[in-house]
Amino acid sequence: MADAVRRFISEAMADVTAARPAKAYAPSNIALSKYWGKRDAALNLPLNSSLSISLGDLGSHTAVAPSVSGQDEVLLNGAHLDPGSAFATRALRFADIFRAGKEIPLRIESENTIPTAAGLASSASGFAALTKALCAAFDLGLSETEMSRIARIGSGSAARSFWHGFVRWSKGEAADGWDSYGSRLNHTWDDLRIAIVPVNKGVKPQSSRDGMNHTVETSPLFAGWPAQAEADCAFIEQAILARDFAALGPRVEANALAMHATMIAARPPLAYLTEKSWNILSRLWQARTEGLEAYATMDAGPNVKLIFEARSEHEVLAIFPDAAVVEPFAKLSSAG
Ligand code: PMV
Repeated sequence: MADAVRRFISEAMADVTAARPAKAYAPSNIALSKYWGKRDAALNLPLNSSLSISLGDLGSHTAVAPSVSGQDEVLLNGAHLDPGSAFATRALRFADIFRAGKEIPLRIESENTIPTAAGLASSASGFAALTKALCAAFDLGLSETEMSRIARIGSGSAARSFWHGFVRWSKGEAADGWDSYGSRLNHTWDDLRIAIVPVNKGVKPQSSRDGMNHTVETSPLFAGWPAQAEADCAFIEQAILARDFAALGPRVEANALAMHATMIAARPPLAYLTEKSWNILSRLWQARTEGLEAYATMDAGPNVKLIFEARSEHEVLAIFPDAAVVEPFAKLSSAG
């Protein structure tokens, strides 16, 4: 076993020979301060810390059960996937970290309540829910911190999807990644709102994994990113603790735009934002000159997410009528 996390799983799995049916839910999360760039590609160890807000009922429901056919099966949103497809391969490779050569055929069934691979972080909730479901199926009894470390290997941002509310993923210093995991900020903000302004619900052209590597390898602007991102993360955490939206909003938007600037400067350039995304930003910036207090953040896809407080919701919806508003601290229904 190559590293501490894999060694930990193999010890936890030592006596396990079978799976039992288990189900889990994990919320999607939006980074207010982004993770962009890895210091270790195999372990998904980040160059900088990041901080997110979870999206409550929007996320992934995943069921793991022994496969009656004796073959691994992967279903996404009700459809059987070709075992060789990208999604199934990633899910099964992840399950292999647990099985480590043991003959335990699995049926993995995942349902997203958010569009898959449209920059709405379905990989984060997907790998977090899969980690929870696998841990329950193998009866490992692990803590959220332990599961966060494991899920990070499937998708970095999944380390932040084990909690509702604000979650900080500290980059850690250890070469084996043991100190790189998410933890919840013990702080709520009932009035905070996130709106998803849809641009395109289709699959994005380049995965965040490939986009990140390409940017780190070729963008002359990347050198300035890790220190700036670390400073942004600390600033954003303080703004949350002080419940200071006038400090929070502008820094969230600046952080996202700086990340996209590193990509645009990559060679060849990488642009997840489309003309429609830029039009939304222009309209937002115009509305801000007229007093609107809402700010934007964008990930590895064209959709724009807005952050604002409840008092601005009416105005946001008047400008962006197709926006879906999320109340991250509302009472959760099925999410659990
Ligand atoms: O977890 P990944 O490998 O899909 O990377 C996520 C990268 C961003 O969404 C762009 C930023 C973030 O912190 O979520």
